[in-house]
Amino acid sequence: MTVLYNRIADQIQELIQQGAYRTGDRLPGVRVLSRQFGVSIATILQSHQVLEGRGFVDARERSGYYVRLPPSQTPVPTVDQVQSRPTPVSARELAVEMVRAAQDRTLVPLGAAVPHSDFMPMRQMQQAASWAARLGRDAQDYAFPGKLVLRRQIAQRMTALGAPTVPDQLVITTGAQEAITIALRSVTKPGDIVALESPFFPGILHSLELLGLRVIEIPSDPSQGISLEGLQLALEQWPVAACIVVVNHSNPLGCRLSDARKQRLVRMLSTAKVPLIEDDIYGDLPLEGERPRPAKAFDREGNVLYCGSFSKTLSPGMRIGWLQPGRYLEEALQQKYFMNIATSTIPQLAVAHFLEQNGYERFLRTVRQRYAEALERMRTAVGHYFPEGTAVSRPVGGFVLWVQMPDGCDGTEIFRQALGEGISVAHGRLFSLSDKFQNCLRLNGANPWDEKIEKALKRLGEMALLQASKR
Ligand SMILES: Cc1ncc(COP(=O)(O)O)c(C=O)c1O
Repeated sequence: MTVLYNRIADQIQELIQQGAYRTGDRLPGVRVLSRQFGVSIATILQSHQVLEGRGFVDARERSGYYVRLPPSQTPVPTVDQVQSRPTPVSARELAVEMVRAAQDRTLVPLGAAVPHSDFMPMRQMQQAASWAARLGRDAQDYAFPGKLVLRRQIAQRMTALGAPTVPDQLVITTGAQEAITIALRSVTKPGDIVALESPFFPGILHSLELLGLRVIEIPSDPSQGISLEGLQLALEQWPVAACIVVVNHSNPLGCRLSDARKQRLVRMLSTAKVPLIEDDIYGDLPLEGERPRPAKAFDREGNVLYCGSFSKTLSPGMRIGWLQPGRYLEEALQQKYFMNIATSTIPQLAVAHFLEQNGYERFLRTVRQRYAEALERMRTAVGHYFPEGTAVSRPVGGFVLWVQMPDGCDGTEIFRQALGEGISVAHGRLFSLSDKFQNCLRLNGANPWDEKIEKALKRLGEMALLQASKR
């Protein structure tokens, strides 16, 4: 015989599955439900525990129970594990088209990986910026290699993550993009080969092309991250000069290397005498659990050049990033100075001021939960609107989704058609130098859920359906 609380849990679960409650909705209070089902409050509480165990609700202290659809049954994408050959980089045409679309505020913003302002501490950053702008000489001088107050804050954070750092080991940069470019300039020369996980973040191609580098793509697995076996093979076969990896919540797959794999990666590259450029821009945004450690935490020889940024958490427009270049500090300092002397001073002071107020951790805790809900809702919608055979990533951090449509669907075609209808998306061809992701799209999940977003996803799904039906 089924116990009463299990029966109540079954009924609430059915309501959730039928869409009466959606991910992120708060369930009615226990008193209301006890009246509605004609049972005691204790029975409702037991049924909520059952639902929590089944993954359908989350309890939030002093706030109630919130619906959380268990990961939708839509499969996760697979990535071909075939090795590539070193390829010269030419990314200009497609990237410019994409960047233009990303900046057009009239479009539904599913393209660029930029958080909606609702996901950033706008008011506090405004206050910090006006505070910094009012400082006297301190705000107007060059700040090479970065304001000490900011470097001190960042050094403390890195040390807390297991990568002991002092302010003098840091170079403040204009975003992570510049940190990566400086790191590359410090350890490579034109014509060198750089190993890159694939699919990779499209902006990286700009740095690689600018520096005349060639790329060898190492396949990444949506659940495990970069293939260490594939990387080992590449190291044996080619004179690789550097390797760039996003070990925490890669863009676009949203996957993370386990600590054991991070350690193996660091050791493997150190043995091969190949510097590792770690891009940890999404590290502060796990969807659940603790902030993961960077690969830098396993670096004993200064072989890891760590790149960070506040673009995905505080403000992309402040353009504040940093580089902890390990044993390449002198080269990195020189490169930064050659490139543009120093990063703008007022944004540095503003970010330092915000960090000193101790609000960053609190902010991260709330925003992570909101990202988790936004992404789950979007995954469910993709499962609902896209053709059968579509797979969608299950990120453990960051805020983008990777959608693999059935063969025959063309992401570039959908990108162009969607643009014509006022929707921006990122198409798969941007994420590799080969055409292997032509049937893929990347969606930006950092948007508050509303009718406009749902309609846009429905339209994208219809475009894909039409293409799939013509196969
Ligand atoms: C993985 C990754 N690295 C670096 C960047 C560039 O960061 P920033 O805006 O701080 O230059 C991005 C931006 O999308 C990114 O996704």
